[in-house]
Amino acid sequence: MTAITCKDIHFSYKPAFLKRYDVLKGLSFAVAEGSIYGFLGINGAGKTTTIKLLNNFIKPDTGTVTIFGLDARDIRARSFIGYMPENPGFYAYLNAREFLTFISRLKGTDRAEIKSSVDDLLRLVGLEGHADMPVSRYSKGMGQRLGLAQALIGNPALVILDEPMANLDPIGRRAFRDIFLTLKEQGKTLFFSTHIIPDVETLCDKVGILMNGMIVKEGSLDDLIASHIEYIECILRGREAAAFAERYRSQALGVTVQADNAILRFADEKLADAIVRDLAGSTVRMVSLEAHTQSLEDIFLHVAGGR
Ligand SMILES: Nc1ncnc2c1ncn2[C@@H]1O[C@H](COP(=O)(O)OP(=O)(O)OP(=O)(O)O)[C@@H](O)[C@H]1O
Ligand SMILES: [Mg+2]
Repeated sequence: MTAITCKDIHFSYKPAFLKRYDVLKGLSFAVAEGSIYGFLGINGAGKTTTIKLLNNFIKPDTGTVTIFGLDARDIRARSFIGYMPENPGFYAYLNAREFLTFISRLKGTDRAEIKSSVDDLLRLVGLEGHADMPVSRYSKGMGQRLGLAQALIGNPALVILDEPMANLDPIGRRAFRDIFLTLKEQGKTLFFSTHIIPDVETLCDKVGILMNGMIVKEGSLDDLIASHIEYIECILRGREAAAFAERYRSQALGVTVQADNAILRFADEKLADAIVRDLAGSTVRMVSLEAHTQSLEDIFLHVAGGR
């Protein structure tokens, strides 16, 4: 089943005394159950707005949002979702254990199970040593950890996180990544927004890039990267390598000769076939043929920055 679908969502803010402002202009995407979806976009792209729509905190002007097949406006849809907001806020005078116990009660966790499930969550996010400290004394990263723990109360099938890795040190980021992968192994679906590219690269089954109110690029990391081959590099070796490579100079991006090696760079994949064919019957050997792809960061900067 599809965990999330957004179909042709339009959404605009109308601040008092100011002009209506279109944020989402035909946003469509789907998140498969059991997968991790990375929602990329620059500041102000509309990531938090989209996440508020998924949670039914705000409603689209037009278009539909479904959660496990239910309209997001249906109260039952909420029961599938664990949500970690962008800047989680807490009651400063409670400690982490009290806060998680309070939220567990609100979420309707069986009273007999609350203590052990709160202990498990504190351990999972690495806060067991700070469970009795008032939240007002927490660092930002500790707040993020508590935010994640509260999102996981009640064992939700779908976990939606708005920039979960912000404020985390490298150890915290690694811990969050491990937790996300464990959640995925348990069959949960994760949807998170970010602009931290390495987190997307190590975690996500699918990536969507939000720009100008729409998904402008979407696919698995392999699909996105493979569709962006920058150039192909072929290394030839042999006494006649230089002369052999010269034959392709007009079609190549560049030819470099070093001793018995010739390096050919070209953009057209078909040229690779021609070179392989021509090598038959020649004394030249091909020692490497490699496609150089753009990184996700290059693609993101290209899409987001128009570069
Ligand atoms: N309550 C609001 N009233 C009016 N405009 C808003 C409101 N909330 C957000 N916006 C505007 O909507 C646009 C999208 O904001 P949103 O918070 O969804 O972006 P974002 O992608 O989450 O950005 P960031 O990476 O900075 O968190 C921005 O231009 C923002 O100024
Ligand atoms: Mg945001």
